[in-house]
Amino acid sequence: MKISKVMVIGSGTMGSGIAQVLAENGYDVILNDIKEEFVARGQLSIIKRLEKDVTKGRKTEKEKDEIISRFQLSTDYSDAEDVQLVIEAATENKAIKLDIFKKVAELAPDETILASNTSSLSITEIANATNRPEKVIGMHFFNPVPVMNLVEVTRALTTDDHTAETILKLSEEIGKTAIDVTDSPGFVVNRVLIPMINEAIFTVYEGIASMEEVDESMKLGANHPMGPIALADYIGLDVCLAIMTVLYEGFNDSKYRPCPLLKKYVEAGRLGRKTGSGFYNYS
Ligand code: CAA
Repeated sequence: MKISKVMVIGSGTMGSGIAQVLAENGYDVILNDIKEEFVARGQLSIIKRLEKDVTKGRKTEKEKDEIISRFQLSTDYSDAEDVQLVIEAATENKAIKLDIFKKVAELAPDETILASNTSSLSITEIANATNRPEKVIGMHFFNPVPVMNLVEVTRALTTDDHTAETILKLSEEIGKTAIDVTDSPGFVVNRVLIPMINEAIFTVYEGIASMEEVDESMKLGANHPMGPIALADYIGLDVCLAIMTVLYEGFNDSKYRPCPLLKKYVEAGRLGRKTGSGFYNYS
């Protein structure tokens, strides 16, 4: 099966980034969300990034216009009737994701592959909510999607080899390095990255160093582009807590206990950049 048209469900930071990368690599893309204003906002963020590429001389005006012409905007899952792949990048909430997969699976052609960008939920459980568990797979991108070169391609217990091979190939075709992962809590990157962030928050919580010092230490001492506390704000503290909780409960291991200070920030609604404040202030 040749994939030429993809529906991306969710037009936020991740969805719009995924849609942009697909369109840049010649795919027709349906950008879908629950409200027209959300889809329009997603498309606008893509256009702004493309315009910046033109300003910086990385794309011509013509290339930008061609990429934009590959988009169709949608608020209706039935628009998936002629796509070969759906990539879901909706909000990280299990009930919402299971509902999306159940509905889309009823409307998309039988051979259409259904992928989720989830960073923490079980791909196997998502697959089981559909009428085609062998064609459901994880496609985990990293933020910012146009810049970050990895895709974790995660096989559910039920995913067949053809589906996995198709998605591994497509990920490479859109310029990413794909890693073939078995479904397990946190997959690979978040299993390593989020406990590191959680440990950084513990060092602040225990008064070992200030958050600025922790961030500076990891930038200078480990060559990280961004300190772990700033990265937590960038990812979203609610997302970090959700992933730590998935690791803690998924492995039944106390080494993954979320730091109380992380929980406190989430309880306060200080979720990071997206709310204007987290550990740092952004207003
Ligand atoms: N979209 C497109 N391009 C972007 C961008 C975005 N949202 N944000 C930054 N960029 C581009 C900039 O345009 C710039 O490119 P040019 O120099 O070619 O113009 C380049 O990235 C560098 O940006 P800046 O100069 O503004 O800033 P920087 O050098 O500090 O880099 C960064 C910013 C790329 C975000 C860098 O700090 C970084 O790599 N941070 C770590 C990001 C990371 O770890 N992401 C993974 C998070 S985990 C995750 O996503 C998975 C999960 O499940 C939680």
